[in-house]
Amino acid sequence: MSNIYKRTHMCGELRATDIDREVVLNGWVAKRRNLGGLIFVDLRDKTGIVQVTFDDKVPEELFKLADSLRSEYVIGVKGVVKERAAKNDQLDTGDIEVFATDMIVYSESDTPPIYIKDDDNVDDNLRLKYRYLDLRKQHMQRNLSFRHKLVKVTRDYFDENGFTEVETPVLIKSTPEGARDYIVPSRVYPGEFYALPQSPQLFKQLLMVGGTDRYMQIAKCFRDEDLRADRQPEFTQVDLEMSFVDQDAVLEIQEGYLKRVFKECLDVDIETPLQRMTWDEAMERFGSDKPDLRFGFELKKLNDTVKDCNFKVFTDCLANGGDVRGICVDGGSKCFSRKDIDKLTEMTKHYGAKGLVWIRMNEGEIGSSVNKFFSQEELQEIAKVFDAKTGDLIFIVSDRAKVTYDSLGFLRRECAKRMGLLNDKEYKLLWVVDFPMFELSEEDGSIKAMHHPFTCPKLDQLDLLDTDPLKVKADAYDIVLNGVELGGGSVRIHDKNLQAKMFEVLGLTPEECDEKFGFLIEAFKYGAPPHAGLAYGLDRFVMLLLGEPSIREVIAFPKNQNAQCLVSGAPAPVEELQLDELGIGVK
Ligand code: AMO
Repeated sequence: MSNIYKRTHMCGELRATDIDREVVLNGWVAKRRNLGGLIFVDLRDKTGIVQVTFDDKVPEELFKLADSLRSEYVIGVKGVVKERAAKNDQLDTGDIEVFATDMIVYSESDTPPIYIKDDDNVDDNLRLKYRYLDLRKQHMQRNLSFRHKLVKVTRDYFDENGFTEVETPVLIKSTPEGARDYIVPSRVYPGEFYALPQSPQLFKQLLMVGGTDRYMQIAKCFRDEDLRADRQPEFTQVDLEMSFVDQDAVLEIQEGYLKRVFKECLDVDIETPLQRMTWDEAMERFGSDKPDLRFGFELKKLNDTVKDCNFKVFTDCLANGGDVRGICVDGGSKCFSRKDIDKLTEMTKHYGAKGLVWIRMNEGEIGSSVNKFFSQEELQEIAKVFDAKTGDLIFIVSDRAKVTYDSLGFLRRECAKRMGLLNDKEYKLLWVVDFPMFELSEEDGSIKAMHHPFTCPKLDQLDLLDTDPLKVKADAYDIVLNGVELGGGSVRIHDKNLQAKMFEVLGLTPEECDEKFGFLIEAFKYGAPPHAGLAYGLDRFVMLLLGEPSIREVIAFPKNQNAQCLVSGAPAPVEELQLDELGIGVK
């Protein structure tokens, strides 16, 4: 005979319509209170909590057993649903309670090291160490279910649109997505290594050469890079590739997908076609290639306005080919004290800004950190560029264009955050298109692909590849949601000569190309269809839709900020013997 109660209902499902029903529940004890003749147990499973009551009518044995229950004991309960005398409107099940008639204790529990409560404020590392307890929290279970739902909608939509889900290998040769690889030593070939995929990029292109036509995969990707709230060393992509399509066809299919996700997961209707903004416009207006459109504070270029001013910092910067740009924070003057501005100035230093000029649109005289160098009329001129009004606060940075974009792009978002303007229930989606093909590496100044080297440059700009490659734009696109890059992709090169040219511009010798991507070039010799694709960051997508502050909240067992898995204790040393077999020594 089985000693597991066969469940009739989940705890969180019971409602007033179930009154008088005999039910069988399984779950964890969230709380037990003994009020003398009455014992109340809050019973929890992934759907919620229900109150189970043991009164003086139950056999003494059972009452005693109920009294022995402690937090996180695992039990099965048989009972009858009754209307609750004192209703609890905090609980979905608050109209009823279950009067127990029998109970079984499956497991006892030590006192748990963290509270199983959504707002427990416990240290993140402790949460991650005891993740299996943390996962018992209602909001974590909600997050996992939501993620499951998004994956299901994804699979359904792409299935209905002719995509085939294909798994690509995890032990591969390095992929060029720009981060550091995780590498895995080979035992069979000592001194040789696999890399874990930074994305399935090359394999999905090979699938197109292989005639798969439309591919999708919920793909694990691995990148050894600095972690942030929206980055993990291993993360998941919704990865897609299509043959015989141009950029418009890709975006259209994706808009159908996004519409479906928002409707089915959030019951939110989004308007399509989505706004498309060129990369140039995004940088010029928002200082970012992932603009948050939920608020204004747009950047303005002040080069012409300040070119004859007495402030040497600005005029020297212009003489050296730099720019002067600013933002106007509507109503910002009363929100930011002198101290706040000092803090913001400090923060913009991370983006390379050497200083931050401010102008307060006071009633009467305009206040400014550069009052000594500007007359009131000149400050008025600057204010006019922004259409600034009384109560506004203007910030100005002069530097290389990139520094002005990065620091002001950061500042506009930071100000909006501090002013409480970021509503996570408002969804501003847009495509950023026409990315530059290349950028200069911050580390060594060399030219590198902004997206990846398989991205197709604008075909009418090919002559610039030799003369002015940094001017070349690409058929590359990102989907941006509320200031976060949700996904990105491009039309690919399918012509082997153009691909070879690309590698040449990137400074790869034919030998290096052959070494790194020879198999792709080889494949392109045998009939490559035109193709294009993109990948969404699934974790980011779930995070944004749920309004969570970090992707760790939507991953069952994430790494901490130091890339450790605290549940299992990875990374960890391995046996000497294992290293010997691999022909590896640790320095
Ligand atoms: P990309 O490198 O832009 O493109 O990645 C696509 C999306 O993956 C998400 N993402 C991440 N999410 C969590 N943690 C990370 N460390 C991380 N890195 C990236 C982002 C990003 O937009 N092969 C190309 C796609 C293509 O061209 O089809 C690629 O991987 O949301």
